[in-house]
Amino acid sequence: MTLKEVDSTNTFLKNILSNSKPVPDGTVIMAEHQYAGRGQRENTWHAEPGKNLTFSILLNPTFLSAQQQFDLTRAVSMGVYDALYPLLRDNLKIKWPNDIYYGDKKIGGMLIENILQGTQIKHSIIGIGLNVNQENFAAGTGNATSIKKILQKDYELKNILAEICSNIEAYYLQLKAGRFEFVRNLYLSRLYWLNERRKFKSNGHVFEGSIKNVKDNGLLVIEKETGEQTYNLKEIEFLNR
Ligand code: BTN
Repeated sequence: MTLKEVDSTNTFLKNILSNSKPVPDGTVIMAEHQYAGRGQRENTWHAEPGKNLTFSILLNPTFLSAQQQFDLTRAVSMGVYDALYPLLRDNLKIKWPNDIYYGDKKIGGMLIENILQGTQIKHSIIGIGLNVNQENFAAGTGNATSIKKILQKDYELKNILAEICSNIEAYYLQLKAGRFEFVRNLYLSRLYWLNERRKFKSNGHVFEGSIKNVKDNGLLVIEKETGEQTYNLKEIEFLNR
């Protein structure tokens, strides 16, 4: 379903679910204009109306436990990655945990909101924002780019959406079949800055280190001079210079 205008496609789906209306597995809500898009870490997500993909997918992955939430993040990130790979090739990376990068610039991100029931995931609202045909980005969104800026061509939003959805479905089915290791290894191999000596900041302290792994639960493992340390999203910042 496509909405002309909505605050946030994630909030829209959440509201339907909280009114106890049944929503079929795989429902996709896309917005032409999302005026209060939400990003990670309480950020807002801005996208010029009509030029970008802003959509949410509802899945009911009751076969996944709360501890396996990051496996869904991996599957969705890999689905977006594979959909874009034929266009963007080897400069395409996944910046931990789930940003989609081209070189050092961000072209997309996702906000996955899980609703748990006991130890299991009952619903997962998977919100994806991808910059497609937008050419200008406001100051302050310094490292944003789009497919148009990279390839100098306009793309049909619905075609890219269809590719993303079918690739996410493929990875979702891998999880359903219990192939967690396959998805984990592939996700790791696509990571931005994997095994590269880089600068990071944590707790006001700048240090050099190298990304070595992502724990099953999604924590980032960085090897430092003092040994390996794990970080969650709020604890670590990647420093580009
Ligand atoms: C991020 O990189 O911070 C995540 C951005 C997620 C944006 C998408 S757009 C569709 C869906 N609805 C929202 O309000 N957010 C997500």
